[in-house]
Amino acid sequence: MKIYRLQHVPTVLLFLFASFCNAQSLREKTPQVGILVGAAANVNYLSEAAYTSTLSREFNMLEPEDAMKWEVLRPNETTFNFEDADRIVEFARTHDMKVRGHNLVWGTHNPEWLTRDSYTSQKLSNLLHDHISRVLSHFRNKVFAWDVVNEAFDGKGNLRDSIWYNQPGIGAGDGTAYIAQAFRWTREADPDALLFYNEAEAEELNPKSDAIYAMVTDLRRRGVPIDGIGFQMHISNLTPNYASITANFARFGKLGIEIHITEMDVALPVTKDGAVIESDDLERQAGIYRKIVEICLQTPGCTAIQTWGVTDKYSWLGWATHKTKGAGLLFDHQYHPKPAYKALAEVLSKRPPQ
Ligand code: XIL
Repeated sequence: MKIYRLQHVPTVLLFLFASFCNAQSLREKTPQVGILVGAAANVNYLSEAAYTSTLSREFNMLEPEDAMKWEVLRPNETTFNFEDADRIVEFARTHDMKVRGHNLVWGTHNPEWLTRDSYTSQKLSNLLHDHISRVLSHFRNKVFAWDVVNEAFDGKGNLRDSIWYNQPGIGAGDGTAYIAQAFRWTREADPDALLFYNEAEAEELNPKSDAIYAMVTDLRRRGVPIDGIGFQMHISNLTPNYASITANFARFGKLGIEIHITEMDVALPVTKDGAVIESDDLERQAGIYRKIVEICLQTPGCTAIQTWGVTDKYSWLGWATHKTKGAGLLFDHQYHPKPAYKALAEVLSKRPPQ
C-alpha cells in the first residue's frame, strides 16, 4: 500500500485545511480568552450587506458611533429621537451582541440649542438629570455599559472647559463634582449598567492619565459609582510606549475597576483615495494591534477591545485628518481582513483560558 506523505499533498489542500482550522471569527475565539471584541457601528451602513455581515460575524459587542450622542438624541429641548440608536440596538439584539452606550456627558457634539442658549446652572443640571433618566430607562437591559463622561481632561491633566464643567457648569466649577454627579444619576437610573469614564490619549503614563487615576481613586473612596475606564486607543504615531501602557493599565486594574479599549484604530499615512502609502506600514500596524491586545489580555480587569469602526471604507480618520491618514482598522475598503486582523486572531487563539 502506498503511504501518502505530507509532502505529496498539494499545497493548495494544505492551505485550505489550515484556513479551515483557523476559520473561527474573532467573536468565536473570545470565549476562550474571556474578553469581548467590538466595533463602533454606524446606522448609515446597516443597509450594506458586506458591512452587516462583517459586523455580526466578527464582533460580539458594538457601540453606536454617533447615534447616542446628544446632538443626535436631542433635536430640541423637549424631543428625544431614538430612531438611529434603536436600529443599532436592534441589530445587536438580533445578532447576540452586547451594546456599549456612548455617551452621556461630553463637551462637544452637543446640539446647538443646548450650547447656544446660556442656561443657568440649575436649568442645565435639570436638563442633564432628565437626559440621563430618560436615556437610561429607554435602553434599560439593552445597554450593558455606558460611557458616562467622555474626554473631560486636557493633556496637562486639567479639566476642560465645557458647558457641564464651568460654562456655566452643573457643579459650580467645583473640580470633578459634575462628573461625580453624572455617575450618581446614571447609577440611580439603571443600577445594573456598568459605568465608565472614557478618555483619549490617556493610554500611557502621562499628566492626563495621572489626573484620571487620581479622580478614579477619589471617586471610589467616596463611594461614587464608577465601574470602569475606557481607553480610546486612537494611535497615530506608530511608536506607542508599550511599557508605559502596560504600567498604566496595571495601575488602573489594581483599583479593581474594569478596563475597556473602546475606540482603537492605528492611523497610517494614506493617499487622497485612502490607499496606504508605505506598504510596510500594514505589518507595523499589525504589530501594534498584536501588542495592545496582548497587554489587555495580560491585565486583570481588561475585559473588552473595540475598534472605531468596521471597515477602512467608513472610518472617521479621513474626516479627522483631512484625508491624510486612514486605513486604521482590521478590514480594508473591500472588507478583506488585513494583517492587523490576522494578528488579532492569532493572539486571541493563543491565550490559554484564565
Ligand atoms: C467621532 C465619530 O467617529 C464621527 O462620526 C463624528 O463625526 C465625531 O465623533 N472620540 C470619541 C468618539 O469619543 O465619539 C469620536 O467619534 C472619536 C473621538
